[in-house]
Amino acid sequence: MHLTPALKEAYSKEHLTAREAQVKAEWIAWGPIVFQVSRLMKKFGILEMLRNSKNGMKEAEIAKEARISGYAAKVLLEASLSIGTVLIDPETDRYTLSKTGWCFLTDPAVNVNAEFCHDVNYEGWFHLEESLKEGRPAGLEHFGPWSTVYEGLSQLPPQVQKSWFGFDHFYSDSSFQQALELVLANKPKTLLDVGGNTGRWALQCVAFDKDVKVTIVDLPQQLEMMRRETAGKPGADRIDGYKMNLLDASQSFPTDKYYDIIWMSQFLDCFGEDEIVSIVSRAAKIMDDNSRLYIMETLWDRQRFETAAFCLTMTSLYFTAMANGNSKMYHSDDLKRLVETAGLEIETIHDDLGYGHSIMVCKKS
Ligand SMILES: C[S@@+](CC[C@H](N)C(=O)[O-])C[C@H]1O[C@@H](n2cnc3c(N)ncnc32)[C@H](O)[C@@H]1O
Repeated sequence: MHLTPALKEAYSKEHLTAREAQVKAEWIAWGPIVFQVSRLMKKFGILEMLRNSKNGMKEAEIAKEARISGYAAKVLLEASLSIGTVLIDPETDRYTLSKTGWCFLTDPAVNVNAEFCHDVNYEGWFHLEESLKEGRPAGLEHFGPWSTVYEGLSQLPPQVQKSWFGFDHFYSDSSFQQALELVLANKPKTLLDVGGNTGRWALQCVAFDKDVKVTIVDLPQQLEMMRRETAGKPGADRIDGYKMNLLDASQSFPTDKYYDIIWMSQFLDCFGEDEIVSIVSRAAKIMDDNSRLYIMETLWDRQRFETAAFCLTMTSLYFTAMANGNSKMYHSDDLKRLVETAGLEIETIHDDLGYGHSIMVCKKS
């Protein structure tokens, strides 16, 4: 199995003492409440007031400023001492923010992940067992009757939508600039953006290159959102939409024109293995020796940092319980095998874009 050096070191040996292992096991046991307490410490403004306080704050002051009862402040603060997001001075009983509390409050990736975990996944993950056994996103039921989250994306409650798009955009936005330079380097005339969503990438393409034309392939509901989002923006007249449900194997990619580049960003992770083979095989049908398929994914085995791989292997369970029941954040060996089964070969892989994307450049084999 391919693993970066950091992951090889972390995953192939036991690193913890027995005592540390027992502590970690307790963290797992209490994981849900560790999360909820920390989330509320932030939501109630307690972490922020501690960061802003000069000499720390007493429990009663915190309760007053957060407008919660003394009891509520006490249970949250005491749990937070154990979690490690706050510290206390036993001489003065004043609370201050710890380094972990500071990261939880201010780190943008942590914030996006926490909101995604709470708003999109928290209740649904209770149904992970059914999802795993039945191969369907059993946790999606409390949002609506759809078989995948993508069908319901435009109808999710506003806060859920905000966190879903916040998560999606946070990661892809971080890589788009580097990706644009790579993908548009040879001045392609036409680009097919498969799963182009609200048109963020397409808008950046048409701004980057004043000649390139982009066609976005997506579900009809998403194309409507895309049209609203791109309307009146510079270059929007060079962005087209093409409705397609990629899960329907009888539907083909557009053949109205020749596409120099087919672009799939954070897209194939929305599909199971057989579906990926079907989608990439259909893409191969509209390619010739000069066209290239660029697949941008966060491949967990190619991460330089263990924390990044941790976030990705955890994200896989969003796909299991909420998104579709059969997809995940892929390992590069698996994605390579699927692309090759579909009749393409990998020309190069570019790693370490943005927060940990890789781009697989594929051509006809
Ligand atoms: C995770 S988003 C990626 C969005 C964008 N490419 C990015 O990098 O941020 C996946 C996209 O695939 C689309 N999608 C999912 N299932 C689809 C299907 N069956 N047919 C067509 N598009 C689909 C979704 O609507 C969504 O726009």
